[in-house]
Amino acid sequence: MKPQTIETASTEPPSGGPRHVAIIMDGNGRWATQRGRPRLFGHHAGAKRVREVVESCPEIGVEYLTIFAFSTENWKRTQVEVAGLMSLFRRYITKETRSLSEFGARVRFIGDRVRLDNKLVKLMTELEAATAHNTRVNLTIALNYGGRDEVARATKRLAQDVATGKLDPADVDEETLPKYLDTYVLPDPDLVIRTSGEARISNFLLWQSAYAEYEFIDTLWPDFTKEEFGRLCASYGVRDRRFGGVKK
Ligand code: IPE
Ligand code: IPE
Ligand code: MG
Repeated sequence: MKPQTIETASTEPPSGGPRHVAIIMDGNGRWATQRGRPRLFGHHAGAKRVREVVESCPEIGVEYLTIFAFSTENWKRTQVEVAGLMSLFRRYITKETRSLSEFGARVRFIGDRVRLDNKLVKLMTELEAATAHNTRVNLTIALNYGGRDEVARATKRLAQDVATGKLDPADVDEETLPKYLDTYVLPDPDLVIRTSGEARISNFLLWQSAYAEYEFIDTLWPDFTKEEFGRLCASYGVRDRRFGGVKK
């Protein structure tokens, strides 16, 4: 294989950079605690970092950005934190709709909406509709998302299609199941970044990340910048992905 070159100029997308980057935005709570502030202070600071990263995608060459905002396991937190996060999501969507639309971001949500309150779901649906025609960057927000929950919900729908005769069990293969996942319109992530020093995936994009490259970095999410994002995407370009084969 020809060695890949990395462009250092920020105007040109690097060749061989990741097309789809997924981020586990972790460390908001610790960031706030370090400052002697309540955890929600960290969540607010974290939400503010999202715009810069989204807006840096086109110049870095990232077409799809998927961010983990709330997991199916995060309901285990205190009522105060969960309610604060839900209110932050409502405020974030209301506040950011205009800038995301003007920037040309197409926003999608993945995760189970059933447990979310109606007001929030309405805002999510409206944001998706308002940005549906945009093509500059695809931003997917995982909200009440869990990889296992997603596979379980997908399997339920697949089983319903079998029960109603729409799908023959003999035809179920690796191409069939992803069509039932929340991410059915997205390519698989090439690079998954997790901030805050934890080296685990915490139920994020389990099926989709089978061959993703991972970067676990120490930076806490509220300190994450577009410069660091750019560096991680550039170093991705020199990795040798083999997908189970051998180097050509
Ligand atoms: C990530 O930050 C944001 C959410 C999970 C909602 P955390 O809240 O997990 O921050 P730490 O890990 O406690 O520092
Ligand atoms: C993963 O972070 C979920 C999000 C970033 C939304 P957590 O902080 O919830 O994960 P664990 O508990 O450290 O595994
Ligand atoms: Mg955490």
